[in-house]
This record gives sequence, C-alpha cells and structure tokens, in this order.
Amino acid sequence: MFKSLLIPIDGSEDSHVALNVACQLAAPIQGKLHLLHVRDPYPQLHRGEMLSVEAAIKAASVETAFAEGRKVLDRALDTLPSFPGYNGEFDTHIKQGSPAKTIVAEAERLKVDAIVMGSRGLGQFKGLMIGSVSHKVTHVANCRVICVHEKPREHATQAPHEFVDFD
Ligand SMILES: Nc1ncnc2c1ncn2[C@@H]1O[C@H](COP(=O)(O)OP(=O)(O)OP(=O)(O)O)[C@@H](O)[C@H]1O
Ligand SMILES: [Mg+2]
Repeated sequence: MFKSLLIPIDGSEDSHVALNVACQLAAPIQGKLHLLHVRDPYPQLHRGEMLSVEAAIKAASVETAFAEGRKVLDRALDTLPSFPGYNGEFDTHIKQGSPAKTIVAEAERLKVDAIVMGSRGLGQFKGLMIGSVSHKVTHVANCRVICVHEKPREHATQAPHEFVDFD
C-alpha cells in the first residue's frame, strides 16, 4: 500500500501518465500525492546557447519559477478527471535547481513511499529508452522508483527476434 507518492512533473505526456498511475496506486487507501515541478533556470546553457544578462536575471527569479511551475502543475492536474476513484489529498511543490538532485532530495524530505515518474520527458533525443533525469533518479533515490510511459517505444518493438530465449 502506498501512503504517499512523489510525482515529478515536467509537462511531458509521460509525466501525466505517471500522475494517473500514481492516482491508481494511491486510490486503495487514498494516499497522499506530492506533485513536484523542478525548474532549471538555465536550460539554454546546458544546450551551449548564449543567454543575455536580462534573460538570466528573469529566468532565475523566484516569481518566474513559481508562475511557470504553477502552469505546468495545473496542466497535469487537468488531465486527472479521466481517472476517477482517487479522492485523496494533493500537495504541490515548485523548486529551482537540478531536476534529478531535487527530485531525490524532495523524496527524502517528504518521506514518500515511492517516486512515480515518466521514463521520458520533454527532451529531444529519443534514441535512449530512458531520459537522463529518470536514469539518475532510479539509481540514486532511497525509495522505490516506478517509471512509466504511454506508448511502446518504436525501437523497443522493432526487433523482437533479437531477444535470446534461454529455454
Ligand atoms: N524539471 C523536471 N521537474 C519535474 N520532473 C521532471 C523534470 N524533468 C524530468 N522530470 C521527470 O522525469 C521524467 C523523465 O524525464 P527525463 O528528463 O529523464 O527525459 P527526457 O526529457 O526525455 O530526456 P533528457 O532530459 O535527458 O533529454 C519525466 O517524465 C518527469 O516525470
Ligand atoms: Mg528532460
């Protein structure tokens, strides 16, 4: 039974699926759901792009982080009516920083039973089965981590004959 779950939301379809799965996992005992959006203020810098001083100051502002994070979490909550049966409590958290580190730290702070997250997010590079944030969180978190995705990945279904049968 899951008494409390952390659902990291980046606005991606997989993270919305994760929220719906979390509702189903929490429904039997109406466990508490913590939605978390982590805002990396400088994604441009990770992509090697330039950032003006004005843009950097605006991006780092707590108000900007909160307003944009709120929108992301509200959009995720809007996807919920299609999964009735959960009437428990939601809590929302918006933080600035490195997504993976912050997700792991929040899971510890909130003492959740598990993290339910998307296996992929908003990243453009879809060649890998799992994104860098879910990869790091699954390796570092001190609690259970459940990664979910909506659609079968194309490259995961292309060559079933490549699986080795040991029987
Ligand atoms: N900034 C974030 N805030 C909250 N949750 C996040 C954030 N970024 C990612 N996540 C969570 O991690 C899951 C996987 O996203 P991840 O970023 O690992 O994949 P990706 O975007 O496809 O790849 P990458 O970011 O490595 O290019 C998302 O579905 C979401 O649950
Ligand atoms: Mg990502």
